[in-house]
Amino acid sequence: MGRIAILADHVADQIAAGEVVERPASVVKELVENALDAGATDVTVTVTGGGRMLIRVSDDGSGMDRDDAVLALERHATSKLTDTRDLVGIGSFGFRGEALPAIGSVSRLTLETATGTGGEGTRVLVLGGRMEQVAPVARARGTTVTVERLFYNTPARRKFLRSARAETRAIHEALQALALARLDVAFRLESEGRGLLEAPRTADLSSRVAALFGRALADQLVPVDHAGLKGLVQRPADARPAGRRTFLYVNGRPFRDHFLVRAAEAGYRGAIHPGARPTLFLSLTVPGEAVDVNVHPAKLEVRFHDKYGIERAVEEAVRGAVAGVDAAVGLGAWEDGERWAGSGERVDQARAPGWTEGADAPEDLFAPLSEGAPPAPRQPLPASEVLQLHATYLLLEDADGLLIVDQHSAHERVLYERAMAELSGADAAAQRLLLPITLNLTAAELDAVEANREVLHAVGYEAAPFGGESVVLHAVPNPHRRFDAQRCFEELATDLARNRFGGVHNRIERFAATWACRAAVKAGDVLDARERAELLRRLFACTLPPHDVHGRPTIVRLPRGELERRFGRG
Ligand SMILES: Nc1ncnc2c1ncn2[C@@H]1O[C@H](COP(=O)(O)OP(=O)(O)OP(=O)(O)O)[C@@H](O)[C@H]1O
Ligand SMILES: [Mg+2]
Repeated sequence: MGRIAILADHVADQIAAGEVVERPASVVKELVENALDAGATDVTVTVTGGGRMLIRVSDDGSGMDRDDAVLALERHATSKLTDTRDLVGIGSFGFRGEALPAIGSVSRLTLETATGTGGEGTRVLVLGGRMEQVAPVARARGTTVTVERLFYNTPARRKFLRSARAETRAIHEALQALALARLDVAFRLESEGRGLLEAPRTADLSSRVAALFGRALADQLVPVDHAGLKGLVQRPADARPAGRRTFLYVNGRPFRDHFLVRAAEAGYRGAIHPGARPTLFLSLTVPGEAVDVNVHPAKLEVRFHDKYGIERAVEEAVRGAVAGVDAAVGLGAWEDGERWAGSGERVDQARAPGWTEGADAPEDLFAPLSEGAPPAPRQPLPASEVLQLHATYLLLEDADGLLIVDQHSAHERVLYERAMAELSGADAAAQRLLLPITLNLTAAELDAVEANREVLHAVGYEAAPFGGESVVLHAVPNPHRRFDAQRCFEELATDLARNRFGGVHNRIERFAATWACRAAVKAGDVLDARERAELLRRLFACTLPPHDVHGRPTIVRLPRGELERRFGRG
């Protein structure tokens, strides 16, 4: 007798179900997609135990008659297509006829549904893929699917589930993704009797974002609208390294695409702090034949025929949206189109204000990299009070008007010039650590750290030894009080490993620029009065105060003459 045998149907079904139903969140995704395909305007999801004990999805959609309700639980039973040609440009989420039977084969599934005629409906009960009961039930138009004891008969799958809390989070996120796809539908999520999500119908993406993630995030977004691409993206200054969200849609269907996210980030290049990751909500509209949606077992990915063209379009659209930001904050709003920001009206050395070295400007606020007195200001002027705006800009007067300084760019300039001096001369004074920090790095990062030991040492990092997987920091620099020495070191190691520093020729300069960028105070850091004064004093002691290391301005000025003209004094 041969050793090959055909698997029993229920075994084959359970194995196939693994592709569609990976975890409770996949069940929620499939059931909610079905509700949306059925034309629901109201979808309520209830879960307990992270979806392991119970998932219930109720909708007010078309419902099914008795025959369809029974058929819906058969594999390859679908009302959404009859031929593979229908797949081109398909508008529904579903098309395989797999989801309900797959879920039913690994749980106890109850389907209650009615088409709305006469308040009579059908109840179908399935256990482990076997239909146990078909009975009439009284209910209003729509469908409710209840899934209990998920994975009760597939212990391998059950073992891979995470905590109830983690599974609930995944469910929440799956529902957020669909709620962003269909603003015209109201969504609700309850877990253990607690409301987690409540999104009323709206016509406006920003309101939906506010309902799902809070007003604060919604207020940080600017619209994108360019050649088939619509959405909202985060203002550069609000982007943070952690906590970002990315939601991509093509023709209304959510999908994941790492490269497209990268392309969107490339649209920010030069406008965002390296390491910051902007939140993105982007929706593409393309002709049906330009995208294949049937390439992933759980439909999480799609394939574009012109992948690079799409990436370019996304990058351009995002850049356009981000470039509009300063218009939105009023910088470009002068009626004569004149822009005083960064257009020749930069501060020159002779007119830069200096700072009295009074008792309120102590030395150690921005700890120097080297011993000895900091350079004296070139042109002492009476100190005026320095205001901080949006925890990002410093405002001060000089004889000829108002100066606005970007604190991060300014500090970058200061650190860069110092690092260049250190790198071509004496070593930086580092702060020795009582308890050395041990870091685990990848092999490539370790190699990079080892090869660049000198430059790291020059800015104040003493790293040793290089055996094994880890590196030990015995001393670290301390350029300001919010400085995170460990994180900065990790970022530099990554940068070095990616070989972002080119040949030997510019290596030191580029390293100094990267160091300055990683180590400088960030937009959003609140500086106290003494820190503001000290930062400006050091900035104006630099050789090139008005330019940051990327060639952007650190200072813009509003000339007094301009103020006078605008207030009719001129
Ligand atoms: N909530 C619902 N309301 C009305 N009809 C539904 C609902 N859920 C499922 N159906 C019907 O049952 C059929 C089978 O659903 P199922 O999710 O298994 O497959 P599908 O949505 O067609 O394809 P896919 O497997 O890609 O999701 C659907 O084609 C639809 O006709
Ligand atoms: Mg479906």
